[in-house]
Amino acid sequence: MEFECIILEIKEKVGLITLHRPKALNALNDQLMNELGSALKSLDSNEAIQCIVITGSEKAFAAGADIAAMANYSFMDTYKGDYITRNWETIRQIRKPVIAAVAGYALGGGCELAMMCDFIIAAENAKFGQPEIKLGTLPGAGGTQRLPRAISKSKAMDMCLTARMMDAAEAERAGLVSRVVPLEMLLEEAMAAASTIASMSLPIVMMIKESVNRAYETTLSEGVHFERRLFQASFGTEDQKEGMAAFLEKRSAVFKNQ
Ligand code: HXC
Repeated sequence: MEFECIILEIKEKVGLITLHRPKALNALNDQLMNELGSALKSLDSNEAIQCIVITGSEKAFAAGADIAAMANYSFMDTYKGDYITRNWETIRQIRKPVIAAVAGYALGGGCELAMMCDFIIAAENAKFGQPEIKLGTLPGAGGTQRLPRAISKSKAMDMCLTARMMDAAEAERAGLVSRVVPLEMLLEEAMAAASTIASMSLPIVMMIKESVNRAYETTLSEGVHFERRLFQASFGTEDQKEGMAAFLEKRSAVFKNQ
């Protein structure tokens, strides 16, 4: 598949997607989002891939939806035509883990895209923000919903209403990102995390992703019930037998994804 706005690389069991519109700080236009959706789906259905990393450039993960492309859209274009938002949720259908490796600006849709990933590893120069209010609009890909869940209502309101940016240290304190590393270490750290995940049993990895995500969609008792069923289901896998046998035999487990 030929892409113009992203670069897709396969590194052993990890699919690495680099957002690549350098002249526009990786502003997310329809073409980029279409390509990202196609790449994610192809990696998800590729049996050789066990984890996915999405990154941008050193200056910008993504500076948001493409303002030039959407400036003149009408309500009918956005509502009836579903312009801008059409392909944004493809990433939610992906069953393998997706890590965002964020350096530089992650603003507006860029911050929202990072939050749609399963976790975020940030470089020290990362800056997160939802500045849509300055453009006379509001976050349109989950910013007002995922941010309060990730960092509290107070900080989410602050960011969405004042448009201020949050630096990497604050983002880590607030729980938006899982780790902060020096810029030159970002990709290495993200790929190492992805390789660690890729060394685990893929069906178990997928169950864990499904179960953690369920925490955001249901009550605690329903979520715990769901987790219990998946925990029980794991005993139907060969990989559970291998993992526990390997521990008892004091050796490394070799999972077969079965
Ligand atoms: C289109 C963008 C862009 C964007 C930057 N560029 N962000 N183009 N859409 N979101 C372009 C600039 O126009 C410029 O092009 C080039 O990238 C470099 O940007 P500069 O502004 O010159 O760089 P700098 O001075 O370093 O400032 C960086 C910045 C600023 C702080 C990130 O670019 C900025 O504020 N960008 C907009 C951020 C934003 O408002 N995002 C939210 C968008 S709305 P030229 O051709 O002049 O060199 C949104 C809604 C989501 O995301 C809805 C999802 C469904």
